[in-house]
Amino acid sequence: MIDGVPPEVIAREATLWLNPGYAADADAWELPLDPHIAQARLARCAGLLAALFPELAASGGRLESPLVPIPHFQAALGQADSGTWLLKRDDALPVAGSVKARGGFHEVLAYVEDVAGKAGLLTDATDRRTLASPEVRALLAQHAAVVGSTGNLGLAIGLIGIGLGLRASVHMSADAKDWKKRRLREHGIEVAEHPGDYASAVAAGRAQAQADPRVHFVDDERSTDLFLGYATAASELQAQLRACGRTVGAAHPLCVYLPCGVGGAPGGILYGLKRVFGAHAHGFFAEPVASPCMLVQLAAGCERRVSVYDVGLDNRTEADGLAVGQASPLVAPLMARLLSGIFTVDDDTLLADAWRLEEREGVYVEPSAAAGLRGPLWLQQSLQGRAYLQRHGLERCMADATHVVWSTGGSLVPEAIRDGFRARGQALAERL
Ligand SMILES: Cc1ncc(COP(=O)(O)O)c(C=O)c1O
Repeated sequence: MIDGVPPEVIAREATLWLNPGYAADADAWELPLDPHIAQARLARCAGLLAALFPELAASGGRLESPLVPIPHFQAALGQADSGTWLLKRDDALPVAGSVKARGGFHEVLAYVEDVAGKAGLLTDATDRRTLASPEVRALLAQHAAVVGSTGNLGLAIGLIGIGLGLRASVHMSADAKDWKKRRLREHGIEVAEHPGDYASAVAAGRAQAQADPRVHFVDDERSTDLFLGYATAASELQAQLRACGRTVGAAHPLCVYLPCGVGGAPGGILYGLKRVFGAHAHGFFAEPVASPCMLVQLAAGCERRVSVYDVGLDNRTEADGLAVGQASPLVAPLMARLLSGIFTVDDDTLLADAWRLEEREGVYVEPSAAAGLRGPLWLQQSLQGRAYLQRHGLERCMADATHVVWSTGGSLVPEAIRDGFRARGQALAERL
């Protein structure tokens, strides 16, 4: 048994856990990682990306997703008067269709810059469109990107990797969705399947890469390049909030709800938001009741790695992107002071909420991406949530709060698979 893990978590009951280590005044500026490095890389590679992917031509190669209000969904949960709820639609990110895109693209771009630089084909001043030249492509064809993934990171790494002319291979766990494996193979990306869970798929990818110096392993558990790529979403959100007139400050809290698997994507985004908004940004992660790996790790303390299996949970969930048993050892210690709390979600609620979101707002998301939707409810309606608001002096300003629910994937899900989730979600929504 692990001290600090609440009994509700062990009993697979949905709950909100407040992080006892959260320090509102923790200064993310003092932390060593700088998202501007990733922002600069993605900016200088925008022309290259626009040339490689027609989907990115309209944005000039910038990887961006819309921010939209969801008043009808809010009303469906009986929360019409509980502040402004916005959906950050990373499900609609071009090319890779998920929250993993910014990190995945950033890491592969960093790798190919390095390979081309070492071969004398690129300097700091060279236009990055050179990376699409026949000479560089011939060089990159001798190199590969390898990743272990529940699916969406594999799509991001595979698609940018193949687009740049690298070989790409993705190691996936047994419970990864078949349609994701099919899609990867259709694009010429090699898929290796493993009988174990996500962690064993990552370990297999790491082993493959160690054997060959021309293979780059994208380490979802430990990579700072991924993490910084994810963090670039913060300045994008800041610009979008400004553009729609939402103020963030002491009397205008920004509350953000992020689905969490291994923790890289939500951790990077929150890290970036803390650097931009400091104490005025309040970050909550959402995890499936069977896979609350970040909750278990933070509750246990970060001195030793623990997993959901250690508290008797089985890591089995429809939210395949979040089916991770052990949190990232890079991200968990960073979140120990920056993260406000974590709420858990059962699969029935995920499917029902995904259906409600589509019915009310016309937005289809995959089950993992629906995990954050109950965040504003937990914060404002639960005893723990109210205690948090009171502790941080927020009770009286919640009418002016901005709630950003991060939607993390869905646009690539085939229609037939969507129909299956829709039918189950509708039946559950009518019953719950
Ligand atoms: C749809 C979706 N949402 C959220 C996440 C969580 O990201 P992370 O595993 O970096 O915590 C993933 C991860 O693959 C995902 O596919």
